[in-house]
Amino acid sequence: MRAVPIPELMLEPAFDPVGSGRDAIGASAVAGPGLNIRHGTILTLEDINVSFDGFKALSNLCLYIGVGELRCIIGPNGAGKTTMMDVITGKTRPDNGVAYFGETLDLTQMSEVEIAQAGIGRKFQKPTVFEALSVFENLELAQKTNKSVWASLRAKLTGEQKDRIDEVLHTIKLDGARHRPAGLLSHGQKQFLEIGMLLVQDPQLLLLDEPVAGMTDAETEFTAELFKSLARKHSLLVVEHDMGFVGSIADQVTVLHQGSVLAEGSLAQVQADQRVIEVYLGR
Ligand SMILES: Nc1ncnc2c1ncn2[C@@H]1O[C@H](COP(=O)(O)OP(=O)(O)O)[C@@H](O)[C@H]1O
Ligand SMILES: [Mg+2]
Repeated sequence: MRAVPIPELMLEPAFDPVGSGRDAIGASAVAGPGLNIRHGTILTLEDINVSFDGFKALSNLCLYIGVGELRCIIGPNGAGKTTMMDVITGKTRPDNGVAYFGETLDLTQMSEVEIAQAGIGRKFQKPTVFEALSVFENLELAQKTNKSVWASLRAKLTGEQKDRIDEVLHTIKLDGARHRPAGLLSHGQKQFLEIGMLLVQDPQLLLLDEPVAGMTDAETEFTAELFKSLARKHSLLVVEHDMGFVGSIADQVTVLHQGSVLAEGSLAQVQADQRVIEVYLGR
């Protein structure tokens, strides 16, 4: 195990860490409470570099997310926000740097599937629900996708799984639409369904890229309430341009610029930062 420095600003762990998780990579037992979060940090990125044909998309990026924290990432187009999520989920390998999930899971050594199974869920910008399937079936499928082969082979849902789907349907306010084909949902409802498809997998860390883009004001407000209710139980990393939304949900805001952290703090703090103002006005 490589030593990882303890970041200064840490929330108390939301639940008791169990076991070390040290030998658990690749074993399905990694998921859930097996994650080692002894020091209250769920995600550690240090000196991450990613270049595409010589262009530096991420440059010595450092980021620490506390257990149960709701962090917003802002920054101009091209700042590296999506690339950062690609590194966390194993889609893009950094040229160098450290990326840990909890204390012991080295994300740079894990496949995308292993990372998802370990408890990192990601929602992309565009909804990718199965339009011909019902809302319930979409959730059922998502619940199976991330489970072991054994679980997928058992055709029938256990009572516990069904209860979890019902609970998630309620959380995303789609209990009344459970039998509706997903293709008939509004854009916002499809986004909520997709968040539900993550929630049925019980991820500990949720990555959400521009979740309120294209939403109505009412849908945006509901999304803010939803995310606030998910924080503490989960850790959330949210990339978003809508500053009203960011201000209403974020514990801490990180400003990315040219692949590095430009500023960090409350939204008011970073908005008052002269370098941040220049970056935003300069475009
Ligand atoms: N696969 C890729 N190949 C080449 N360049 C890329 C690739 N992905 C991202 N980039 C470049 O890296 C920079 C950061 O992109 P991105 O992470 O998408 O920024 P953001 O999400 O903050 O808008 C951009 O200049 C983008 O053009
Ligand atoms: Mg992006």
